Amino acid sequence: MKHIRSIYVFCSIVTSVHSGVSNLPEETELTTSCSNMSLRKVPKDLTPTTTILDLSYNLLFQLQRSDFHSFSKLKVLILCHNRIQELDIKTFEFNKELRYLDVSYNRLKSVTWFSLASLKHLDLSFNDFDTVPTCEETGNMSHLEILGLSGAKIEKSDFQKIAHLHLNTVFLGLRTLSHYEEGSLPILNTTKLHIVLPMNTNFWVLLRDGMKTSKILQITNIDGKSQFASYETQQNLILENAKTSILLLNKVDLPWDDLLLIFQFVWHTSVEYFQIQDVTFGGKVYLDHNSFDYSNTVMRTIKLENVHFRIFNIPQERVYLLFTKMDIENLTISDAQMPHMLFPIYPTRFQYLNFANNILTDDVFKKSIQLPHLKTLILKDNKLETLSLVSCFAGNTSLRHLDLSKNLLQHENDENCLWPETLVTMNLSSNKCTDSVFRCLPRNIQILDLNNNEIQTVPKDIIHLTSLRELNLAFNFLTDLPGCSHFGRLSVLNIEMNLILSPSLDFFQSCQEVKTLNVGRNPFRCTCELRDFIQLEKYSEGMMVGWSDSYICEYPLNLKGTQLKDVHLPEISCNTALLIVTIVVIMLVLGTAVTFCCLHFDLPWYLRMLGQWTQTWHRVRKTTQEQLKRNIQFHVFISYSEHDSAWVKYELIPNVEKEDGSVLICLHEGNSDPGKSITEDTINCIEKSYKSIFVLSPNFVQTEWCHYELYFAHHNLFHESPDYIILILLEPIPLYCIPTRYPKLKTLMEKKAYLEWPKDRRKCGLFWANLRAAIHVNLLETREMCELQTFTELNEESRGSAISLVRTDCL
Ligand SMILES: *[C@@H]1O[C@H](CO)[C@@H](O)[C@H](O)[C@H]1NC(C)=O
Ligand SMILES: *[C@@H]1O[C@H](CO)[C@@H](O)[C@H](O)[C@H]1NC(C)=O
Ligand SMILES: *[C@@H]1O[C@H](CO)[C@@H](O)[C@H](O)[C@H]1NC(C)=O
Ligand SMILES: *[C@@H]1O[C@H](CO)[C@@H](O)[C@H](O)[C@H]1NC(C)=O
Ligand SMILES: *[C@@H]1O[C@H](CO)[C@@H](O)[C@H](O)[C@H]1NC(C)=O
Repeated sequence: MKHIRSIYVFCSIVTSVHSGVSNLPEETELTTSCSNMSLRKVPKDLTPTTTILDLSYNLLFQLQRSDFHSFSKLKVLILCHNRIQELDIKTFEFNKELRYLDVSYNRLKSVTWFSLASLKHLDLSFNDFDTVPTCEETGNMSHLEILGLSGAKIEKSDFQKIAHLHLNTVFLGLRTLSHYEEGSLPILNTTKLHIVLPMNTNFWVLLRDGMKTSKILQITNIDGKSQFASYETQQNLILENAKTSILLLNKVDLPWDDLLLIFQFVWHTSVEYFQIQDVTFGGKVYLDHNSFDYSNTVMRTIKLENVHFRIFNIPQERVYLLFTKMDIENLTISDAQMPHMLFPIYPTRFQYLNFANNILTDDVFKKSIQLPHLKTLILKDNKLETLSLVSCFAGNTSLRHLDLSKNLLQHENDENCLWPETLVTMNLSSNKCTDSVFRCLPRNIQILDLNNNEIQTVPKDIIHLTSLRELNLAFNFLTDLPGCSHFGRLSVLNIEMNLILSPSLDFFQSCQEVKTLNVGRNPFRCTCELRDFIQLEKYSEGMMVGWSDSYICEYPLNLKGTQLKDVHLPEISCNTALLIVTIVVIMLVLGTAVTFCCLHFDLPWYLRMLGQWTQTWHRVRKTTQEQLKRNIQFHVFISYSEHDSAWVKYELIPNVEKEDGSVLICLHEGNSDPGKSITEDTINCIEKSYKSIFVLSPNFVQTEWCHYELYFAHHNLFHESPDYIILILLEPIPLYCIPTRYPKLKTLMEKKAYLEWPKDRRKCGLFWANLRAAIHVNLLETREMCELQTFTELNEESRGSAISLVRTDCL
């Protein structure tokens, strides 16, 4: 019990919902899969509501009555590939809904029947029954549609019990067949009969009986030695009452002559569609088309797939012509390693020919072939090379569909192409076509596949393909979209995986009809040129196939890997006109702002002030101690007119000393008498001061400046270091007011080498700072002078003019 419980855990349970086929509401399916778990018994505690139970590939050998009691909803029970030896269908008595029961591939020897009314599908094939296990109750299961059976002996009486059942499919999966009573199969009433034969069985009788039984007959494993030696061939080749119209043979391994006899046999029956898959020919080729009676047939389609030859020396002509002379509607010989194909010299009725996956070469078309009714030709996966040769062949047909994919086709410009007017679809994918292929295309082509070729451009001088609706140019080497000048009605274009960096928008103007466009997986260069293309996607609702996953930038490198939809290229960076306008606007705004500042805040004054200040700082830094050596004792000498003395005393001096607090100043107040020259002391003062300040006002110019002009004229000081002098313009002095005899002053004024006393109090801070910076110097050697007391010495000789030494920290 414990063991079983642990197994239960591993049985996977899947719930799925199917919408009911009828009007019933949807039904839920609960699948319990216990497949391939080495189970010896049916687990006890499986979900009782299970509807599908899979117990295949286990080791079950016996079923108990109680095993499936609880599954009242069970519909599908799969018990194949176990070791069950006995089956009592009454076991499923309580599974009223059971409709599918698969007990194939077990070791059943006997079945105890019970009429399960609901059962539709019952598979007892590939078991060890001695005889086919049918009985009266089997015949009572009137819903049965698909019945799988097996048995070493097959007798008429077995089938008679189920003869009245109207079955859809009878499947005979036989492990061995020791005896078959002729005429047994035709007793069954079924639409389809599929027989899987054991190896090396005498299939002949079963084939004949099978064809009398059902409309569709499929026989798997037809092999062994020649079956026909023991028969008087000619008589047995005639079959009356044949019902089969579709005959399918799988896994056939026969001598060529036997196969030919089967064809001959089938030829005169009711079969219209004959398909052989996985066929191997062996033996010698004695019989060929010459011994084949082509008359009197209803055959329309023959299909041979996956054909192998075990013959070393195939007389190709005889083999190929057997088929091409059949003159039916449809013929397929694919996966056959055929190097060639031959046709009768007279016209044949073929409408559909499929020679896919062979090794056909251009030689096929070198002889003239007459296929006037041909509608479809499939030559996929061969070794054809010359497109014009195919076209010349096609020119004599009424071909509509042509599949030439996976060949080695090319077109040279000087070759003529003669496609039929009827050709509407052509598949040239996976060939070696270059641009020139566009000069060899059918005029009325509607669907053209040129996927995976070597096309670089669509030439301009080609014929107009006015009917072309679908064009596939994926996996080529195109660098741009082709445009629709030659394909006016194009509606589907695939140009995936080419070398398109930025698709040109001309395409969208010329290709108005395009509904579906695939430009994915190209190496897009995500620059401004691509902007319109990205925009276009937004308006073209769903036109671009694969958007947005397949549309990825390759260049520039910083955008590599970004999806096009995520690339943002702002209007301004892409539109030159807009860029220029923006720059101009910005300049205008800046200009206006600057002008406004100049007018409103006297910006130039500030600028000039700042300029002077920085210059001063620069100079001060450069002033070496050497320069100071010239016996300097004062920071500054100040000369002014008596009219301005109030300003000097209450504004200038307090502000000059504001920062360091210790500034030695030599003051000279001029008097109103212009006749008096400056004294010895004054000159002394000038020479011992680091800087000289002249407070300029009209009055000062009138009365005082003459002394200095003279003085400067005599001493070259002014030339040597003009920055030694600081002019403070207290009131504006128009240039014309300066007398011509003062050239020095004039020069200074013209150079604007003065500090202008601002009327606006807000500007004074900067003015003073500037001034302080100009006179700032470290007067080391003047230290001893600090003992000087403040004094005012009235110079008697020059009355009205005063020279004062001021130590500002003591003021
Ligand atoms: C059963 O399981 C074994 C190992 O788990 C695996 O090799 C085998 O292919 C499985 N058989 C089937 C039929 O699933
Ligand atoms: C078959 O079913 C019918 C009625 O459904 C019944 O009368 C008959 O006995 C059944 N036959 C057998 C062999 O069970
Ligand atoms: C075979 O079954 C079909 C229905 O599937 C029926 O029409 C036909 O009459 C049956 N044939 C015989 C011989 O019972
Ligand atoms: C021949 O093949 C074509 C294309 O597969 C098909 O449409 C047509 O029905 C076939 N004709 C016959 C007689 O089988
Ligand atoms: C052309 O042939 C290729 C390969 O054989 C196939 O994948 C493709 O679908 C075909 N194209 C058309 C339009 O049928």
